[in-house]
Amino acid sequence: MAKITTAVLQKMKQQGDKISMLTAYDASFAKLFAEQGVEVLLIGDSLGMVLQGHSDTLPVTINDIAYHTRAVRAGAPDAFVIADMPFMSYGTLEQALQSVVPLMQAGANMVKLEGGDFLLPTVKALTERGVPVCGHLGLTPQSVHIFGGYKVQGKTDAAADAMVAQAKALQDAGAQLLVLECIPKTLAKRITDALTIPVIGIGAGNVTDGQVLVMHDLLGISSGYIPKFSKNYLAQTGEIRSAIAAYVSEVKSQAFPTDQHSF
Ligand code: KIV
Repeated sequence: MAKITTAVLQKMKQQGDKISMLTAYDASFAKLFAEQGVEVLLIGDSLGMVLQGHSDTLPVTINDIAYHTRAVRAGAPDAFVIADMPFMSYGTLEQALQSVVPLMQAGANMVKLEGGDFLLPTVKALTERGVPVCGHLGLTPQSVHIFGGYKVQGKTDAAADAMVAQAKALQDAGAQLLVLECIPKTLAKRITDALTIPVIGIGAGNVTDGQVLVMHDLLGISSGYIPKFSKNYLAQTGEIRSAIAAYVSEVKSQAFPTDQHSF
């Protein structure tokens, strides 16, 4: 696979080529995912749940994300690697400026932050200093205690309008990618059409510029609650490489997610 950059992802949006993204946490899976054509690898703070066994993502630290980012980068030198900023590592602008250093030095191409308006000065400051930013709106898991559970967001007209405005503001502040999690498909389409930067969905329907899944959900090895938007590709193919290839193929053709996986 040719080296994936922000320019490549931007061109994919312009050409209507769908972007496949997966979480990855180690070198072996990162290598395998890149070999199967996954363009973007996310060291998600979901690792707090799927690797560390916590019930939410809040205990994850910058050192955890940096450790796994280094491993993923070693396994996939040409992939586009996004490192999640964990809970309260960007509560203030000063914290954010310090927190990105170990992540970028571990090999990340971009960092991902959850939230809207309060982050605008941070997004601007990071991009001005050479740190590409991915926004994350909708069901932002670090705010699970505010939401009172893992619930679909943006369901009312007012909430939908506010999310469209926040997405545009993040783009204007310099964000070069946006993840939308667990929102109605109609709202995901509105936001994807309104933005010039690529929009990646998870539980947002097949109308975004690409899809992301947690690798453990795709392989059917997550324990406990399995979200409606995930799909077990290993059950369908019986082999890990084929499961990843099937995921990439269905993202590209927009066969995944179906309405059964959407809100
Ligand atoms: O932490 C994570 O894995 C994520 C994805 C679900 C988008 O943020």
